[in-house]
Amino acid sequence: MNPTLSAAVVIRRVGLSRIDDLLALEESCFSCDRSNRRNLRHLLLSPSAYCLGVYHGGELVGSMVVLFRSNSCVARIYSLAVAHAARGLGVGRRLVAKAEQRARARGCTWMRLEVRMDNFPAIRLYESQGFADTEVLCGYYEDGAHAFVFRKELN
Ligand SMILES: CC(C)(COP(=O)(O)OP(=O)(O)OC[C@H]1O[C@@H](n2cnc3c(N)ncnc32)[C@H](O)[C@@H]1OP(=O)(O)O)[C@@H](O)C(=O)NCCC(=O)NCCS
Repeated sequence: MNPTLSAAVVIRRVGLSRIDDLLALEESCFSCDRSNRRNLRHLLLSPSAYCLGVYHGGELVGSMVVLFRSNSCVARIYSLAVAHAARGLGVGRRLVAKAEQRARARGCTWMRLEVRMDNFPAIRLYESQGFADTEVLCGYYEDGAHAFVFRKELN
């Protein structure tokens, strides 16, 4: 995908009918801690999960899941993935902006997420969007990798 085409991507809610595409995207974007079909199905049907897909000409090229909890002012970016061919074009940034927009609309005042300490593209993305690392979770991932907890106050 080239930069001019990136303007043509559409971001909207993703439904159960795209579960196979979501699984394929997970597989291509994550080497461990992937969501499986059962987990994805649960998320796609959950009223507390905001699941977005990024579409280019009908093809799913990105996804994001944001989780909300009743009685909590904190929204959590649970998952964010952009297909290799669509990276570096601002899609990830647009998804994070959508997450914030939705969180504000639901009355949340904070966003949080976990990110692998060695995931520099994602860390740079979150820092560029005003998130700051506030905590370290040792051995958080399946392979023992540590995580940063990033937070951002929404105002
Ligand atoms: C992390 C990820 C979502 C970024 O998506 P993207 O659409 O390529 O990101 P964007 O094009 O919106 O980039 C926004 C900013 O992020 C940072 N960034 C993105 N990719 C980067 C890279 N490879 N190296 C350094 N910084 C990078 C930059 O600050 C960039 O701003 P700039 O283009 O003005 O320099 C994507 O690489 C991805 O899906 N990775 C695999 C899955 C993953 O790690 N998900 C996050 C889990 S917490």
